[in-house]
Amino acid sequence: TRIEKAGHRHFMAKEIHEQPQTLSDVLNTYIDGARVKLPTDYDFAATDRIQMVACGTAHIACTVAKYWFEALARLPVDVDIASEYRYREGPVGPDTTALFVSQSGETADTLAALRYAKGQARAILSVVNVPESSIARESDIAFPIHAGVEVGVASTKAFVNQLAMLLALAVAAGVQRGKIDAAREAELVAGLKLLPGIMAQALTIEDRCEALASKLAEATDILFLGRGPMYPMAHEGALKLKEISYIHAEAYASGELKHGPIALVDRTLPVVVFAPMDPLFNKTVSNMQEVMAREGRVLLVTDSDGAAQASDGVWEVLVMPTVDPVFAPLVYAVPAQLLAYHTAVHKGTDVDQPRNLAKSVTVE
Ligand code: G6P
Repeated sequence: TRIEKAGHRHFMAKEIHEQPQTLSDVLNTYIDGARVKLPTDYDFAATDRIQMVACGTAHIACTVAKYWFEALARLPVDVDIASEYRYREGPVGPDTTALFVSQSGETADTLAALRYAKGQARAILSVVNVPESSIARESDIAFPIHAGVEVGVASTKAFVNQLAMLLALAVAAGVQRGKIDAAREAELVAGLKLLPGIMAQALTIEDRCEALASKLAEATDILFLGRGPMYPMAHEGALKLKEISYIHAEAYASGELKHGPIALVDRTLPVVVFAPMDPLFNKTVSNMQEVMAREGRVLLVTDSDGAAQASDGVWEVLVMPTVDPVFAPLVYAVPAQLLAYHTAVHKGTDVDQPRNLAKSVTVE
């Protein structure tokens, strides 16, 4: 069937707006009452480590998932870029679970990495959008993310569904490993059920993003900062922006600011700070103030509590819905996408088919 833009100017816009629906599609496949039930069982109590491997946006999903698996399931995770992993000859123990994340399921480096781990790891798992893809077929278990066809080269709804699937795996692992009790599981599942509605609410920031984008479009460089799971989300913000607007963007862990990028800060540098109200909020805010003290222009992306506490002196504030910090990466994907999208539209680039990029990289 032919995929249409359904009234949107670009496929990317359409796919961003589909997220409340596509997110609920994947959630419905693994929520059963007050419990998480995986579409296929896997025993995370019998593994001592997860090795995740991917490219591009899928790699960023893995770096978010590391925080979830380690905190919720107390399971150590290593994350690698597929083109590095496939040649590094890293040891793969028999108790290691190898997990590959790929929208297309055809990325050459990710597939080669899977073949490297096969026969060594305890099991080969994959999180894919295309269930009949090579990576799905060569895995012991493939977990489909049900995002539907994604046309825009810059991944949006597939990224959010990769996050949702990985979070479900982390919760299931936490339950199996005795780190999440029934009450906490029920609480997490209740939170998951609210997420599609919160995503819809998050999308209402679009007009604000459009207004901010006209300012960001004038910059030559933009810095993204975050702590905890917001650090990989800073990477997602920077990746989206450079892919489609061609503005140089870089992501840093807030706490690492003083070890390098602070030298770049002056009044011409927009600094986007992802800081929901969570246990690390005050730390991120103090890094943000270091930027402001050097006249950097801070765009603070936070919730209403965060805005009430830390808006003084910032350049712009973008207020997101309030959400349990566990779920914040999914919600903060929206400003990452919309800021990049509207900056690109403002600059007049080819949003759906940015120069030099391919949707699926099937050659090395
Ligand atoms: C390309 C695409 C990215 C994607 C990456 C990995 O670079 O432009 O959007 O994240 O490949 O693709 P995969 O299909 O393996 O997720």
